[in-house]
Formats: sequence, structure tokens, C-alpha cells
Amino acid sequence: MVLSVLESSSHHVDQVRTSAEDDFCAFRPEIQAEFVENWTTDAVPIIPSTVLPNGIAMPMLGLGTTHSGGYYHETVVYALRNCHYRMIDTAKRYGVEKKLSLAIKESGVPRTELFLTSKLWPVDFGYESTREACRGSCERLGTDYLDLYVIHFPEIPRWFEQPRLIREETWRALERLYDDGVCRAIGVSNYNQRDLEELLEFCSIKPHVNQCEFHPYINPMQLREFCKEENIMFTGYCPLAKGKILDEEVIKRVAMKHNKTAAQVCLRWSVENGVPAIPKSRQSYRIRQNCDIFDFALDESDMESLANLHDPSRKCVKLENLQEKYSLPDGYKLNGISSICDNSVVSFVS
Ligand SMILES: NC(=O)c1ccc[n+]([C@@H]2O[C@H](COP(=O)([O-])OP(=O)(O)OC[C@H]3O[C@@H](n4cnc5c(N)ncnc54)[C@H](OP(=O)(O)O)[C@@H]3O)[C@@H](O)[C@H]2O)c1
Repeated sequence: MVLSVLESSSHHVDQVRTSAEDDFCAFRPEIQAEFVENWTTDAVPIIPSTVLPNGIAMPMLGLGTTHSGGYYHETVVYALRNCHYRMIDTAKRYGVEKKLSLAIKESGVPRTELFLTSKLWPVDFGYESTREACRGSCERLGTDYLDLYVIHFPEIPRWFEQPRLIREETWRALERLYDDGVCRAIGVSNYNQRDLEELLEFCSIKPHVNQCEFHPYINPMQLREFCKEENIMFTGYCPLAKGKILDEEVIKRVAMKHNKTAAQVCLRWSVENGVPAIPKSRQSYRIRQNCDIFDFALDESDMESLANLHDPSRKCVKLENLQEKYSLPDGYKLNGISSICDNSVVSFVS
């Protein structure tokens, strides 16, 4: 039995349904109970799932693993083993796939319980190179399939000619990976409506997911609406705006009202909008705190106050200057090399 959160007509995710067909055992209560018993003394919340357009269950909360800020092995093991996180969001670009495979192994969590997402970096665009890149990600992660594989950015490196053709070939490769069962779902990331419209012109399989920046400062309503119309699941990244939103007075007030932290309010806000969230933290107590969001609900007035914070100028991830980054190695921020670039490209994602 899988627990699935459905987006209700209001803001709130307040319905839970079961899906007998789905064999995704990560969220079976009996397995959850076993983990709680084995690994913790506190009650660890059950992380509910949503359902992707192709029927695959996807947890509403997962673990971010960007190279920005470094990689912390112990916190990944802790998240899996003690807090029952089952979704891990990574990318070839972050340079941590191999490290994650070690953490997964150490945690003892079986592969069948995990939801692993990785991303195709634009330097690997093209039919054969996309397939090769996916194989590489699987190999480093120690798995023979991904739960979700997404195109990291739509922007084509300058050296490719005929950008649209490359995007078509790349998507064909993803479709093939899906058909071959190497990826249980395929999607895109950082696609705006124009990018999606182009993709919809030539795809045989629509993207199941569009992963974009999403937190109370950045709530792209029009894009979300478009995704909904096209049956593409809008999922979020940077749910805490890289920590920059947590001193916001409005959020602190809502947090105090519910006896929660500002981070928990942001994550709850995402979940109540039906948008899966993937916060990253280097600290175990925050990993634990971040999953403790399923025992309270934001009310209409909270949602209204948070809606007023929308401000496109507060975007964390700048999509400009991407071309300059294509020559940098994967995981270049892991050892603090990012500081070299920080003057020119502040908060650049990749
Ligand atoms: N598709 C894309 O292009 C894309 C772009 C960006 C990110 N992502 C994905 O999204 C994930 C999340 O984004 P992100 O890591 O950039 O930013 P984020 O999760 O919004 O924020 C991370 C920051 O918040 C702090 N933090 C975490 N939990 C906290 C808590 N409970 N209280 C206070 N501070 C807390 C962390 O500091 P500490 O470490 O000190 O706790 C860190 O500085 C990434 O790791 C990556 O997997 C995808």
C-alpha cells in the first residue's frame, strides 16, 4: 500500500489515498514502522508520496545534494537510516554520485525503497552521449536504473550547432531510456513555458516532471498552471532559497504561531502547494527537523501572507552565464573552488 498526497482544490494537501497497483514499497507503513523501531527512539514522520503522470510514486520530500557547500557523508546516511528520507536528488554535475552510492550502501536501505533522481548536464546533449551519461550516472550510483532522469538545463552549449535538433535527439535518448526501463520517469529542469512548448512539439513521451526553483520568494504561478494543463508534475528545488529566506519576518511569525521553524514553514508551504521539496543540509539535526513537517497545516491567512512574498528579483539560481560554466569540471564546488568564481557569478547553481 502506498500513501499518496493529492493536491486538493484549495491550497492544502489534505487527502491521502492508497494505490494497490503500485509496488513502490518505500512508503508501506509496516516497513516504516520497522525502520522507526530499528533506527530511532523518536517517532519519525512518514513522508507521503505524490503520483507522477505515469503512475510512479514520488516522495513529497527528499534530500538535496548539490556540490555547493560540500558533501557530508554522515548526514546522508543519517537521513536515510534515521529519518526515513527515501528520495535523493542529485546530478552528474554535483560530482557526488559515487559518494552517494557509498552512503546508500552504508545506510542499508534497499534500492527498491529509494527514489533516485539524476540529471543530464548540457555538455552531454546528443543521442549517444545522453545514453552514455545516463549509464555513467547509474554506474556511479551503483544502480541499474534511475527513478527519474531530467535534463538539467535547456540551454545548449555554444559548440553545438542546430540547437533544436540537439534538443530533439537528446529527448529521443531519454524516451529510449524510459522505454528500455533504465529510467522509471523522465523530465526536465529549469524549463520555462517556451522551452516546454518546443519540447511538446516533438516529443512522443511528455516530460513527467519539470523541476524548478520554488519557495515563497519564487512561485511561478503561470508556469505551474501550464504544467498542470499539460500533465507535467511541477517539482521544486531550493525550497529554503539557499537559507536566504529564513530571516523573513512574515515566515518567522507563521513559524512561531505553529511552534515550528522558518525552514519547516517553507517546506510545509511547498508540500501544501503540491510541490515536492528537496532541501539540503550539512547538519543532522536540520535533516531531522526538515522532515518534521507532516503534523501541522498552514491556514488560509498563513498562505496569503506567504503568497505576498513572491518577488522574482529574489531568485537564487541565476540562469545567465551558463556557457561560462560548461568548461568547469563536475563537482568543482566540492572543494571550495567555487570561491574563485563567486565574484563573477553569485549563487550560480551549477
Ligand atoms: N535542478 C536544478 O537546477 C537545481 C538547482 C539548485 C538546486 N537543486 C537541488 O535542490 C537542492 C536544494 O537546493 P539548495 O541546496 O541549493 O538550497 P536549499 O535546500 O534551499 O537551502 C540549503 C541551505 O539552507 C540551510 N538549511 C537547511 N535546512 C535548514 C534548517 N532546517 N534551518 C536553517 N537552515 C537550513 C543549509 O545550511 P546547512 O547546510 O548549514 O544546514 C543551506 O545553507 C539542491 O541540493 C539540489 O539537489 C537543483
